[in-house]
Amino acid sequence: MLNGKTDNQFDRVASLTADYAETQAGYSEWATKYEEDMTNMGYNGPRQIVSLMHDVLGGVMTPSTVRVLDVPAGTGMVGSELQKLGYTNADGLDANADMLKVAESKHVYRRLIETKLGTGELPVEPNTYDAVLLVGAFTQNGTHLPCTCLDDLVQVTKPGGLIIVGTGSETLQSEVGLALVDKLQDLEERALLSIVNKTTRSGYFRDWEGTFFVCKVT
Ligand SMILES: C[S@@+](CC[C@H](N)C(=O)[O-])C[C@H]1O[C@@H](n2cnc3c(N)ncnc32)[C@H](O)[C@@H]1O
Repeated sequence: MLNGKTDNQFDRVASLTADYAETQAGYSEWATKYEEDMTNMGYNGPRQIVSLMHDVLGGVMTPSTVRVLDVPAGTGMVGSELQKLGYTNADGLDANADMLKVAESKHVYRRLIETKLGTGELPVEPNTYDAVLLVGAFTQNGTHLPCTCLDDLVQVTKPGGLIIVGTGSETLQSEVGLALVDKLQDLEERALLSIVNKTTRSGYFRDWEGTFFVCKVT
């Protein structure tokens, strides 16, 4: 259970080590205050990943026609940023019903998919999305998405579509970060995608830098 030693829910969730169920309980408890807390702590990852996608697709596709999957959608911070730029054809996927309830109330997604990633099963048709966005997905404590979920996400992305992964640059030095880089390299070696850009942004979260991998699916 949550240790209750701090009122800061981010620190509480981040301190839960390697237990998926506890982390999910933490998100359920936090759901209605998540965005306020994350915004106050200076979380800019959602805005940054949407801006990167817009840089690539904005000039070649009409935003409202771009089919986007936001993974994990949480309360819909990415969805709100998508809507601001006219990307109104987005779906959100997350394992947590309480987080998704908040996302639903914002009306920024066409479809919400409640499912746990990393089980090898994804209730989505192959070749569906022009862009799949992952931010706040891979955490140092390893209690979130397993990197193997990228195998499934490649399948639901259209050939030529984008998968963009954003994470704290420091996270890339952790076991989870190294596994993420390995997985992207593995997918590249198997010619399932190519990493077309690796770029950093300051102020990803608090004063931490973020690293974004922009990948094109083959
Ligand atoms: C830090 S939040 C990020 C949400 C959103 N991307 C954002 O940036 O605000 C992490 C989310 O990952 C979800 N999550 C963790 N493990 C998951 C899994 N295996 N499958 C699907 N969602 C998962 C949690 O339920 C939570 O909503």
